Amino acid sequence: MIRIDQLTKAYEHAGSRTVVLDSLDFEVGRGEIAAVVGRSGAGKSTLAQCVTLLELPTSGSVIVDGVDLTASSERDLRTARRAIGTIFQSDGLFSRRTAAENVALPLEFLGVTPAESRARVAELLERVGLGDKARHYPHQLSGGQRQRVGVARALALRPRVLLSDEATSGLDPESTQSILGLLRELRDDLDLSILLITHEMEAVREIADTVARLEAGRFTERGRVVDLLQDQSSQLGADLQPQRASAAAADGQVALLATYGSPDVPADWLARVSAELGEPVGLLGAAVEVVDGTTVGTVTVGVPASHADAARDALARLGIQTRRDADPLPLLNDDEIETAA
Ligand SMILES: Nc1ncnc2c1ncn2[C@@H]1O[C@H](COP(=O)(O)OP(=O)(O)OP(=O)(O)O)[C@@H](O)[C@H]1O
Ligand SMILES: [Mg+2]
Repeated sequence: MIRIDQLTKAYEHAGSRTVVLDSLDFEVGRGEIAAVVGRSGAGKSTLAQCVTLLELPTSGSVIVDGVDLTASSERDLRTARRAIGTIFQSDGLFSRRTAAENVALPLEFLGVTPAESRARVAELLERVGLGDKARHYPHQLSGGQRQRVGVARALALRPRVLLSDEATSGLDPESTQSILGLLRELRDDLDLSILLITHEMEAVREIADTVARLEAGRFTERGRVVDLLQDQSSQLGADLQPQRASAAAADGQVALLATYGSPDVPADWLARVSAELGEPVGLLGAAVEVVDGTTVGTVTVGVPASHADAARDALARLGIQTRRDADPLPLLNDDEIETAA
């Protein structure tokens, strides 16, 4: 478990002081993936570095598995840091060492015997799906495979906590998927607490349990991913929504963007709304995803502009909420219109 209390980090520069992290409280439970999102310069990497104490916090505490790192001596800190594995955007592999030799590095530093080290490295490479690539050098591996070697190395000392700072940035979709799948497995199989720093909302939606938005050193919005996705008033929830299918509706129609998370929504909801309005209601786009075990559906429906409010009410009665802050989108005949809110 990672807990930070009132964490502040300020830099002094030519007499002026910049507060990069401002009294942050945060927790990542065991077996949980907590995402932190935010614009460039928001302080995400600084947060990651403060958690490993690579950067010393100006004030506040960092507690990993019950050990207050900020109160530890230099020697205790070295031991405590072993509980934290890190993976970064650049894989940081040594080019003249094979995959296996890279993974073995932290074990060598600890003086683990060669036989023990070999066994552990083989197990780790197997774990990340690279059992057959042990003797490959980094340049003989794909970006995603190199990143997996980085994950294996981060796991070498059996950490309780994993920090991932933009580990999938710059990877192709397939490699991104493989890394995300791996992180999910590590959470579920090893009960790791994972702090996932990313700017990719899709990654958050796919594997994170909670998400917080960091803006100018403060958390401006946070919550469980599944709750935010269904919260019609949440901007973060809106940003987390999948890209919606573009939609076209007939003249005089508007598109309403709606989400539902309840299994109680009747399968024939579209027909019911049509019947209630006495007007045709068209399905313009739909996406259904399973987030954290809950089915979250996003639909775009086209209704006659004059019946937009009645349609909202009828949908709400069936457990389907329309976005309140987004006005109905006017749709032109045969035009393709992006309905992203
Ligand atoms: N050593 C330093 N001295 C002074 N300012 C710093 C230092 N390190 C970082 N900063 C400042 O802290 C702010 C946050 O930087 P940080 O790297 O944490 O952002 P980030 O959210 O990770 O951005 P990105 O998404 O681009 O990686 C920036 O304004 C940066 O200039
Ligand atoms: Mg960064």
